[in-house]
Amino acid sequence: LTFATGIEDMQPSAQERLLLRYERFIEISQQLNSTLDHYVLLRKIVDAATELTQSEAASILLVDEATGELHFELASNMPSSQLETITVPLEGSIAGWVVMNDAPRIIQDVRNEPDFFKNVDDATSFKTHNILAVPMRAYKKNVIGVLETLNKRNNEDFSVEDVKTLTMLAVQAAIAIENARLFRQSDFMSMMVHELRTPLSAIKTSTKLLLRTNLSESQRTSTIHTMNDEIDRLIRMTSDYLDLARLESGRARLELSSFDLSDLIKECITIVAPYATERSIEIAVFAQTTTINADRNKVKQVLLNLLTNAIKYNRDKGEIMVECSRIEHSEDAQVIVRDTGHGISKEDQRMMFQKFFRVSDTEKSATGTGLGLAITRQIIQAHNGEIWLESEIGQGSSFFFTLPK
Ligand SMILES: Nc1ncnc2c1ncn2[C@@H]1O[C@H](COP(=O)(O)OP(=O)(O)O)[C@@H](O)[C@H]1O
Ligand SMILES: [Mg+2]
Repeated sequence: LTFATGIEDMQPSAQERLLLRYERFIEISQQLNSTLDHYVLLRKIVDAATELTQSEAASILLVDEATGELHFELASNMPSSQLETITVPLEGSIAGWVVMNDAPRIIQDVRNEPDFFKNVDDATSFKTHNILAVPMRAYKKNVIGVLETLNKRNNEDFSVEDVKTLTMLAVQAAIAIENARLFRQSDFMSMMVHELRTPLSAIKTSTKLLLRTNLSESQRTSTIHTMNDEIDRLIRMTSDYLDLARLESGRARLELSSFDLSDLIKECITIVAPYATERSIEIAVFAQTTTINADRNKVKQVLLNLLTNAIKYNRDKGEIMVECSRIEHSEDAQVIVRDTGHGISKEDQRMMFQKFFRVSDTEKSATGTGLGLAITRQIIQAHNGEIWLESEIGQGSSFFFTLPK
């Protein structure tokens, strides 16, 4: 039998603390489910993780659907500008281990831990002592990322209860992130339908105009031209959308043949040259004969999209340089399309290949669907190639892609 002192009486027992923690957990879960904005949601998850496990900091890493790489989405101990520069390796990091093993991991002292990935501590003034990391996975789904908490307060160790709580939070977080994603997808559908309405109503207005008897011949002609342009836009949008749907579902079949990539580049430049000339943009080409085995029409679609972008988003009197060669010590062909346009911010670069994404200041210009680069990436990936970009605001952008021999 022990006698409780007055002070101990006022402290909640371990049991009560646990109950409080679960109550708080339920409250937080409800909040997560009502948040659809990606970054607001992540912020709430990080805050909840530090609060529930009483730790100093927390971070979320997500698996990139396209590349399978892990990267930081949000960390309470790092500014987001710094986050983007750090990719976390699957081998040689705690988070990578958690993804590959689909299991939680506690490191009570990172000093004795070879798997501890030091780059974050090196890049910030934050000093990590201990880590608890759990996989983020909705029931019966794949692991989408990792939730980590760092430095349990009062120099304590992370407890079994912490593992349980963080694991439950990670499940709720994964569900909320998935929901937000699905919502965005259905948002894409309504965006698509919305985009179709603009040309349709322009055509409707034109037909009404044409029905009037008092139109002059020149008014009639210009109205017909408007209709023609808008119909072209509709055709382009619907066929882009179908292309993308086919590629995304894996239904698109590649028709492989052997051809010279530099020939195809020259062919594409001839097609786009009139648009470049209109804006006094020069196109230079350095292309070595590079024979590859690929779907010629699809690669043509890739080149035409990169070239039209390099023209559309260039400045007047700008330059475009297209290079094509075989990579040294490799059988892969590499193409680079460089422009002298306004460039793309680091933030936008990450979104570039997503469907319907358009940089906000270009959104107003009517030509374009925001589907071109999404299709481009799908085509390159279907060929087991890679695509990426480098860009400097005010200097221009360079798009790179590789295709195996
Ligand atoms: N070379 C480039 N320079 C600057 N911004 C670009 C470039 N290429 C693409 N973009 C930006 O990326 C967005 C998506 O491109 P894309 O998928 O081809 O769609 P679209 O050309 O139909 O708008 C464009 O709206 C534009 O904002
Ligand atoms: Mg485009």
